[in-house]
Amino acid sequence: MTEDLINNKDIYYPSYLGTNDNLLTLLNKASQTLCDWFSKADKNGPLPFDDNFKCIMPEEDGNSAEDLFSDIESLLKNSFNPVHPGSLAHLDPPPLIFSILGDLIAAGLNNNLLAYELSPSVTLLEESLCKWFAKKIGFKDSSGGIAASGGTLSNLNALIAARNNAGLGSNPNSVLIVSEDAHSSFIKCTRIMGLDATNLVKIKTDDHGRMDINNLRKSLDKCLIENKKIFAIVATLGTTVRGAIDPIKEISEICKERNIWLHIDGSIGGIFAVTNIPIEGLNNINQANSITINPQKIIGITKTSSLLLVSNMNTLENTFSTGLPYLSSNENIINRGEMGIQGSRPAEIIKLWLGLRFLGLNGIEEILKSSIKRKNFFIENISKNKFDIYSGPLHIVSFIPKGLKTKDTGIWTQTKINELINNNFMLSRPKFNGKYYLRVVMGNYNTKDSHIEELLRFLDTYQ
Ligand SMILES: Cc1ncc(COP(=O)(O)O)c(C=O)c1O
Repeated sequence: MTEDLINNKDIYYPSYLGTNDNLLTLLNKASQTLCDWFSKADKNGPLPFDDNFKCIMPEEDGNSAEDLFSDIESLLKNSFNPVHPGSLAHLDPPPLIFSILGDLIAAGLNNNLLAYELSPSVTLLEESLCKWFAKKIGFKDSSGGIAASGGTLSNLNALIAARNNAGLGSNPNSVLIVSEDAHSSFIKCTRIMGLDATNLVKIKTDDHGRMDINNLRKSLDKCLIENKKIFAIVATLGTTVRGAIDPIKEISEICKERNIWLHIDGSIGGIFAVTNIPIEGLNNINQANSITINPQKIIGITKTSSLLLVSNMNTLENTFSTGLPYLSSNENIINRGEMGIQGSRPAEIIKLWLGLRFLGLNGIEEILKSSIKRKNFFIENISKNKFDIYSGPLHIVSFIPKGLKTKDTGIWTQTKINELINNNFMLSRPKFNGKYYLRVVMGNYNTKDSHIEELLRFLDTYQ
């Protein structure tokens, strides 16, 4: 059937007349190829790579469907495979089946979240789903949100709105406060906002990786003396290295006292807030002005899927609205391109919506609980005599052999990473406070206790 397409070079787009047999054939073949790749994950490992992999560039004439499918297979064969049970390195879980479908539909729709007239149903869907999330976490009626491509962009949307809200738009003395364990994207965000490294104040963490409140108070006083203007404090709900949660209640009280915008970076842990799972420290998040929730990182909504929720939608509109003179608008609906940094944007909300509807609240809860269960199983069974373990209430664990000198952590972790990948376990190697650690992220639903036991045996043997 693909032969047809080779002889039919004038078919570039879906037909608006009659059937789309050729497209259907290609979609079926693409689905088959993808499913074969999933099924072979166990055989190929989490991170296969063949040095002969070639990136072939477009040529004078277009390629045949056969050529392209052969290139797709080669691409897949040389890709990180999140479905493999040994894929435990990062916040990149297996893709949720209904999210894969959502991506396909969004690609075919090719609607644009820039404006209502380019995406009427999806605009309403995004608005409604953001409101649904906002209500779930306890925000009031004035709340809502905007989707963006990833946690970094959601955080950036929040910080720009916070600075604008504080009337500090171009003030070189404006300061952002985060903990020393906050995600590195805040460095990027402040740079993009035209600020120096000194405008990003990092607060020390306590022994559990949480922002130290005394230290926060001292830094705030120091900023006051130095005439620095704080436009936001970020509380991290799930740090990248160990899944710690900053003391949200105390930080929110300080923000109220001093009239400072509280942003919660819930890229990792925010999704727990829509469930009834008891997580230590996950409270009072509705006291924030804004919160990032990034469901791509844990429940498997396909990348990218991130929401910024705000307690007051006017803050986004006041910050980002410029008018879109080339687009018509609907009286009651604000174009989504006027509520965040991004202009044209795909209908990514579809895969979040389908994924969540497919799971329901019980399904979300089951997936999240299972990640905590795997983390607990790992911690219960790892040798406490051999390793120092760092882990907060979420599903991430960093660890390092006891007594290993800081200068030796780089080589030790690199050696382990290599040994483990040869045995089909992919872990990561974060560096923080000058030291390297091994890290497991237990967000992979395909990882069973038996896999964790096997991983622990390797760690024990190689130690
Ligand atoms: C806590 C936290 N915030 C923000 C980000 C940035 O998210 P993204 O890579 O989706 O931009 C990450 C990424 O891992 C993260 O762990």
